[in-house]
Amino acid sequence: MKINKDWKVETMISHFAEERENYEGAVVPPIFQNTLFTFKDWDAIDAAFDDRVNTSIYSRGRNPSVNMVEQKLAKLAGSEKVRLFASGMSAITAAVMHFLNTGDHVIAIKNIYGPANNLLSVYLKKKMGIETTFVSGNDIREYEEAIRTNTKLIYLESPSSAIFSIQDIEGICKLAQSKGIKTIIDNTWASPIFQNPLKMGIDLEIHSCSKYIGGHSDVVAGLVIGNKKDMDSISVNEFELLGGKIASIEAWLLMRSLRTLPIRMKAHQENAMKIAKYLESHPKIETVNYPGLKKFPQYKLAKKQMTGFSALMSFKLKTLDLSQIKTFFNSLKIFKIGVSWGGHESLVYAPAISYLKELSPQQFEGLGISLGDMRISVGLENAEDLINDLEHALNTIS
Ligand SMILES: Cc1ncc(COP(=O)(O)O)c(C=O)c1O
Repeated sequence: MKINKDWKVETMISHFAEERENYEGAVVPPIFQNTLFTFKDWDAIDAAFDDRVNTSIYSRGRNPSVNMVEQKLAKLAGSEKVRLFASGMSAITAAVMHFLNTGDHVIAIKNIYGPANNLLSVYLKKKMGIETTFVSGNDIREYEEAIRTNTKLIYLESPSSAIFSIQDIEGICKLAQSKGIKTIIDNTWASPIFQNPLKMGIDLEIHSCSKYIGGHSDVVAGLVIGNKKDMDSISVNEFELLGGKIASIEAWLLMRSLRTLPIRMKAHQENAMKIAKYLESHPKIETVNYPGLKKFPQYKLAKKQMTGFSALMSFKLKTLDLSQIKTFFNSLKIFKIGVSWGGHESLVYAPAISYLKELSPQQFEGLGISLGDMRISVGLENAEDLINDLEHALNTIS
């Protein structure tokens, strides 16, 4: 389809990379559910192998259903190339492995997604002798002090999905570039709609598409975005060789999701802001941790780096009585109990459920977490209904 450069994001994301005339005008492209592609003769398949990154030969490498979505996502992120993976974790693994070799050193922030922390601090340490220094990440001097002669990578997650800490992306990238260190950011919380880290100097951006990009809680997927040189190398090596490809049907579902991503993010933001403000003013709530609130300690930096705020937040109930906390938790009706986030449905989770299995209440309070902490993912339901649900649950406790 002929694209007009002046089109805004909502229009572009709907039509870019779709050649409807090739599919009898079908408004939604078919799913390319095939393992291989055939060629008319020797010369044709020979030429395909000369440009294997850009040619459909075998679906572990390139598949048109996947490629259409990758093109849309690259356009959205203002980048040269995107690769879609089977999960956010396989995207993280690919990005990290692209930059690291045996014996390298990494600087990462403390509160990155748990399995990403595990990958760096346990798996890659054991397999490849890679050492990681974890920093709180709020002060650029921490990174300066952590740099070693073998530091090859700084790994960020801003805002982080556990405590919503914000890192000064531009400042960290300047430091990294001056020392020849590469940078990766997990940009899942903000989504490509609200934050563009590549423009701030980041080398590779990753997302779990299982959150906002998918948005319907029916696809587990991930992506890596970067410049052509890095992405061509990732395509041949970490993508095609290691084989963590996304299924065609899941890419096709992501195409469906992308058409509504800009308006979904707007609606998530509106709902989240109403709920954060309601919770902030409630007498039974101690604090609300949401980067979109003016009281959020890093609000200024958050505003500088992001054009909007998504809808994952946490709050602390005043009560520390476990039976009251459970009553509140169990009384929510619209907020469903579950671990993920970024979907159409509102969710609640209490970090204490995980921590109580491993740590004493005193130990986990040392981590800045309390029994009364609740993490909520605000979905796309009506904000008034969601507030009524919270109000009802809060009324069940003293
Ligand atoms: C911030 C963040 N990054 C990455 C991931 C991993 O994504 P996936 O579950 O798609 O592998 C998650 C999953 O919860 C996450 O919360």
